[in-house]
Amino acid sequence: MTIENKLAELERRNAEAELGGGETRIEKQHQGGKLTARERIHILLDDGSFQETDKFVIHRCTNFGMAQQHVPSDGVVTGYGMIDNRLVYVFAQDFSVFGGSLSKAFAEKICKIMDMAMKMGAPIIGLNDSGGARIQEGVQALAGYGDIFLRNVMASGVVPQLSAIMGPCAGGAAYSPAITDFIFMVRDTSHMFITGPEVIKTVTQDEVTKEELGGAMTHNETSGTAHFACDDDEGCLLLLRELFSFIPLNNQEDPPIKTCGDAPNRSEPSLKDVVPVNPNSPYDMKKIITAVVDDQYFFEVQEHYAKNILIGFARLNGRPVGIIANQPNFLAGALDSDSSVKGARFIRFCDAFNIPLVIFEDVPGFMPGVQQELGGIIKHGAKLLYAMAEATVPKLTVITRKAYGGAYCVMNSKHIRADYIFSFPTAEIAVMGPEGAVSIIHRDKMANAEDPEATRNELVADYRDKFASPYNAAELGYVDEVIDPTETRPKLIRALEMLKNKRDINPPRKHGNIPL
Ligand code: HXC
Repeated sequence: MTIENKLAELERRNAEAELGGGETRIEKQHQGGKLTARERIHILLDDGSFQETDKFVIHRCTNFGMAQQHVPSDGVVTGYGMIDNRLVYVFAQDFSVFGGSLSKAFAEKICKIMDMAMKMGAPIIGLNDSGGARIQEGVQALAGYGDIFLRNVMASGVVPQLSAIMGPCAGGAAYSPAITDFIFMVRDTSHMFITGPEVIKTVTQDEVTKEELGGAMTHNETSGTAHFACDDDEGCLLLLRELFSFIPLNNQEDPPIKTCGDAPNRSEPSLKDVVPVNPNSPYDMKKIITAVVDDQYFFEVQEHYAKNILIGFARLNGRPVGIIANQPNFLAGALDSDSSVKGARFIRFCDAFNIPLVIFEDVPGFMPGVQQELGGIIKHGAKLLYAMAEATVPKLTVITRKAYGGAYCVMNSKHIRADYIFSFPTAEIAVMGPEGAVSIIHRDKMANAEDPEATRNELVADYRDKFASPYNAAELGYVDEVIDPTETRPKLIRALEMLKNKRDINPPRKHGNIPL
């Protein structure tokens, strides 16, 4: 055979692999509003940067006529490439080949790039679109999943792992993305569940649609399993690229610094009266965040879930930060179980990957209520406390208004290793709000007063003067600086710069025991 013949054979084999399950199935994929695995990778990565591994791998199953059915790549496209010139490993399940179902060989391909990602210290992005375990393979396919799960766990906190759900993701298969750091879903075309609607109907008689059970909004709004809901495949892949720009390649690196065109010493007049005079009036904490960060850009994570806490990424003088903020516009910003878990998981991601934390605080406390208590607010709230206390990255707090009770301690107080605490003059730092406090400590006085209403107002005003201000905490050194709100941006940037070389460690141990 001449070299020309050999090159022709290579070309033929490449073309065969690149055609996946064939034109008809590709057409079906497009008609369903979905792109193919290779089209997705093309959008995700920098132009021409993708290098494909294991293109000619085939499955080894001989059951049920499978010996005659071989498609090179075996239903998953794997390899490495670049996003904004930074290395990333990718696998994309190809629904056009055996429904993207996972064989042992398919799993080995994924494991190979996961192992490389760990050695090289680069993130792993998985694009999921699969009918689950390849039914013809039986336990071999399950073994393949087990191999991937183990690697997901070992990679957790070492390299970032991002998942996009772009088709079905059912059964135990859903646990691989669930272990990863962020889950993106595409509206209408992606579904995640452990058992589908038919099985549920048989077992519990509940009737539910695929969308209600495991669609993008179900997991973004209700279960909190997913972090982003995107309109289509392209939007999803571009959003993945954007998230990538905030995170380091591994846990030994700092996040990438971007050139900043927004003046670091910019003061922001709109912040002067952003906090309402009436302490019970709501306001939008996002206005404060966007006014402070570079180019007013807040990359919000889980925006549809537990809206009483805001989490997301932004930059301060080009440096990525993770933001956690109470949202007075929703449930008065009180902390409940869902918001505690949402905040805790995000904090742990940022801490694992050297992303400083900036906390904006206006919290009336943990949410009272029978449902919350029976639902485990103690153990869920403890997760937020644990995550915040455990974090060793630079930790900054801005108290805009209320910092009450246990929530004061939890929302990055000095006592759990906050590095620097700013407070607006409008802050109220106390065990509880003045009304509640007066009802308890002055119960007798009010009961015996000639004019209980006037006495109450007087006592509330007195309490507010004494405790519901930042100055009592500032006198004790629990607040580092009381600042003019318009100066928040330069103040945070200077503090972040000062903390640049922060080193802090936790005691040696196998691992802590976060209250799960
Ligand atoms: C082998 C599969 C397959 C699978 C789909 N296909 N799933 N082949 N193993 N798991 C094949 C189909 O036979 C079909 O082949 C092609 O993929 C496309 O599938 P369709 O059914 O035509 O597509 P669609 O109508 O879009 O339905 C998609 C689907 C459905 C909802 C995913 O295929 C489905 O329900 N599949 C089975 C899902 C499942 O129960 N998987 C096991 C879950 S348990 P042809 O040749 O006709 O085109 C699991 C355990 C993991 O995964 C445990 C980890 C510990």
